[in-house]
Amino acid sequence: MDDQINAPELTSRIAIIGTGYVGLTTGACFAKLGHDVVCADIDPAKVESLKAGKIPIHEDGLEAIVQEAMADGRLSFVLGSEEAVKGREFVYLCVPTPQMPDGSADLSFIEAAASEISPHLGHGTVVVNKSTVPVGSTLLVEQALGRADCPVVSNPEFLREGSAVSDFLNPDRVVIGADDQQAATRVASLFLGVRAPILVTDPASAETTKYASNAFLATKLSFVNAVAAVCEAVGADVNDVMLGMGYDKRIGHQFLKPGPGWGGSCFPKDTRALTRIAEDAGYDFSLLRGVIEVNDDQFGRVVKKIESAAGGSLDGKSVGVLGLTFKAGTDDLRESPAIEVIDRLIAAGAKIRAYDPAVSVLEMDGVEVVADAYAATEGADVVTVLTEWDEFKWLDLDKIAGLVANKSIVDSRNILDRGAVRRRGFAYQGIGRN
Ligand code: UDX
Repeated sequence: MDDQINAPELTSRIAIIGTGYVGLTTGACFAKLGHDVVCADIDPAKVESLKAGKIPIHEDGLEAIVQEAMADGRLSFVLGSEEAVKGREFVYLCVPTPQMPDGSADLSFIEAAASEISPHLGHGTVVVNKSTVPVGSTLLVEQALGRADCPVVSNPEFLREGSAVSDFLNPDRVVIGADDQQAATRVASLFLGVRAPILVTDPASAETTKYASNAFLATKLSFVNAVAAVCEAVGADVNDVMLGMGYDKRIGHQFLKPGPGWGGSCFPKDTRALTRIAEDAGYDFSLLRGVIEVNDDQFGRVVKKIESAAGGSLDGKSVGVLGLTFKAGTDDLRESPAIEVIDRLIAAGAKIRAYDPAVSVLEMDGVEVVADAYAATEGADVVTVLTEWDEFKWLDLDKIAGLVANKSIVDSRNILDRGAVRRRGFAYQGIGRN
């Protein structure tokens, strides 16, 4: 089925406020679905680059969609939200909701955006919260708008970095939270070209669904990493344990890979925010606090492995690091477990040479970023894999054997062939495997 709506009456006029990962993907994909979209940002350089069809983020397929939609006249970029919202039926708020020191979400950007657009909205324009916002934020946006004729709707995003376009166009579900049923129906109509269940509920339930989904995924991963620790202690192999567990349809095979811990711009922020939201509402979410603690411990467990692989002390030792981003397929370093581990290695006196296919510059004392994986292993007392980039699976181990000072590898993503590594005389440590 043609995934562009060509029927004019089904084409809606949408404004997107904020052109980060969420805003740019949302705007481009709505245009791909046949809507008329204008995206606004406050950063002049970013707007100029977007107008030239250049996008600042590493997302498969996004640049092509942006360029095609601009050529079709369905997508444009402007500086500032005032011009963007004029004559628009929907205004999507896709501005950052960063984490405050106490774990709560900083809603100042959302409030500022709402107050700024309010005087310029047409009667009946639907304002939509796309950013991940705490329960009750729909009310906060209504107050900031100060207009009873513009309903506010929650439409949380479930986009993964690196697959955001496919996650938007082929979602597992669309969630819409609104008190105004007509507004909910209007937002649902934007997704006509998308084959997925559309859940319409109240704002609080929609907002909680987003946080609870991320918190559950983080819980699943902390559980995997904790079981990996048990496997090491009892002599089991976590890869086989996770395979055995995943056949249970209630568990599933996805999101069962052990690692150095979870990171990124969402899980750490959202798990802390939900813990805080619960606490403020009078519930002590001890389970989720435990999930966060297990994750913090995981960074330390990986550092300990590297320390023992380097002979028991990291002081003055050279560590070859493969992978810096928080996961493969993205160039994002925000709250990357790899950076957390490197921080601790440097604190223990190690010298770091690091390679990541998506990172050429890293402002971090004590880390030399090199141009390829082999250069990272030169003279290393221990080599460690911290991000699961495919290219690390096919490295020439004989070549590495000739480059390192000591043949020892800590594979925090269990992506290397343990047998092949050991046959070449390397000491190999994985996660949850002996
Ligand atoms: C996540 C959610 O998946 C997405 O639905 C939400 O909208 C935003 O947050 P993202 O942060 O892009 O997406 O990353 P994700 O792919 O979920 O991975 C999060 C972390 O978990 C990464 O550090 C990744 O390396 C780690 N991970 C993931 C594992 O360690 N093992 C796995 O099996 C899967």
